[in-house]
Amino acid sequence: MIPARLIATIRDGGTPPAADLAEFAAGLASGAVSDAQAGAFAMAVLLKGLSEEGRIALTRGMRDSGRVMTWDLPGPVVDKHSTGGIGDSVSLLLAPALIACGAYVPMISGRGLGHTGGTLDKLEAIPGLRTQLTEADIQAQLRYCGGAIVAATADLAPADRRLYAIRDVTGTVESIDLITASILSKKLAAGLEALVLDVKCGSGAFMKTPERAEALARSLVAVAQGAGCMTSALITDMSQPLATAAGNALEVIEVMETLTGTSVNTALWDLTVALGGEVLAMAGLAADVADGEARIAQALEGGAAADMFGRMVARQGGPSDFVERWPDRLPAAPVVAEVPALEDGHVVAIDGEALGFAVVGLGGGRRREGDRINPSVGLSDLAGLGEEAGVGVPLALVHAATEDAAAEAVRAVQAAYRIGPGEVEELPLVMKRIG
Ligand code: URA
Repeated sequence: MIPARLIATIRDGGTPPAADLAEFAAGLASGAVSDAQAGAFAMAVLLKGLSEEGRIALTRGMRDSGRVMTWDLPGPVVDKHSTGGIGDSVSLLLAPALIACGAYVPMISGRGLGHTGGTLDKLEAIPGLRTQLTEADIQAQLRYCGGAIVAATADLAPADRRLYAIRDVTGTVESIDLITASILSKKLAAGLEALVLDVKCGSGAFMKTPERAEALARSLVAVAQGAGCMTSALITDMSQPLATAAGNALEVIEVMETLTGTSVNTALWDLTVALGGEVLAMAGLAADVADGEARIAQALEGGAAADMFGRMVARQGGPSDFVERWPDRLPAAPVVAEVPALEDGHVVAIDGEALGFAVVGLGGGRRREGDRINPSVGLSDLAGLGEEAGVGVPLALVHAATEDAAAEAVRAVQAAYRIGPGEVEELPLVMKRIG
């Protein structure tokens, strides 16, 4: 395989041989492919696309660029993956709920990306908690408490780690072929038997239209199933934040309120139940999706999911009394400011991407790779679509490190909300199922 020739073939609309794509993926991991070649490859794929065969070959090549995990456990190994949104902390509810229902969950998660929040950053808002475990630690933790929410180990899909960093800085993130290969190379390397995908659609997602979201969902499901992993996808609404907080510790608070029943967030609950029902049915732990949904709801309601969450947190180095004492254990920002609405009417549109970048601006996400995150900052009490708004009435609360940062975030949130007359047609949370 000659990288320049492979790139030129894609640039000219052709499909390179599968073996060459696999070799290119191996070259990304070994360093045989240069940064310039990786960037040119990503741009050629974004502009011209790969055939389905090419997409499968690239995904498999990236999966096989590192270790593929295998398991010897008495139950099915499952996971879910979200394509990324705002106020979406479902993973923290779903992993323990699935474990409580008899599944094993090696949840290999990511950090915030662009305007979207990342599960690892949220979890690390819990003092002492570690997400960088070795494969041996992950294996031991699954045997001990059924699941782990962790970062990819150094040798899991290394081709993706390299290509992802290059895509992030070359304007080549939004390619369906590359997103498919990126997500699935990691998920398939985790040795899953069943996977549910939450493909977000709307202003806070990478896929802004139902057509693009459906194309991504179909691509992900086809490639994952083709690789032998039972997979379905739900296309879900991201035209507004999923829950009412965006920011790491603030989202953990909403998770704990929902897990412990002190104040249940309906959207978080409903999406956790819908995604969990899919996984349990595919994995044979429920008779069908409806039965799976009932089991997940019971795990949440009866406190089993909260117990499992506590065990995972403690095992990963967090406080052993987190489920009982979470209000005392999470960091809080020193400045809390209201975001007053500037008009009367109803919330008719929310720019989710702008809200996500407001959190990044507060220090809750990274401007550059390697930036340190402030876990305490973010937004809470976010008004939803259709909600009545009045001049001076708060649309949200900003949690900031300084008064200046708060003032800037207040302006950003005000600009992200469109308030107008009339009714808003709210989309269903689950827009479509593919599988
Ligand atoms: N998440 C990933 O892991 N990769 C992508 O390309 C997009 C979202």
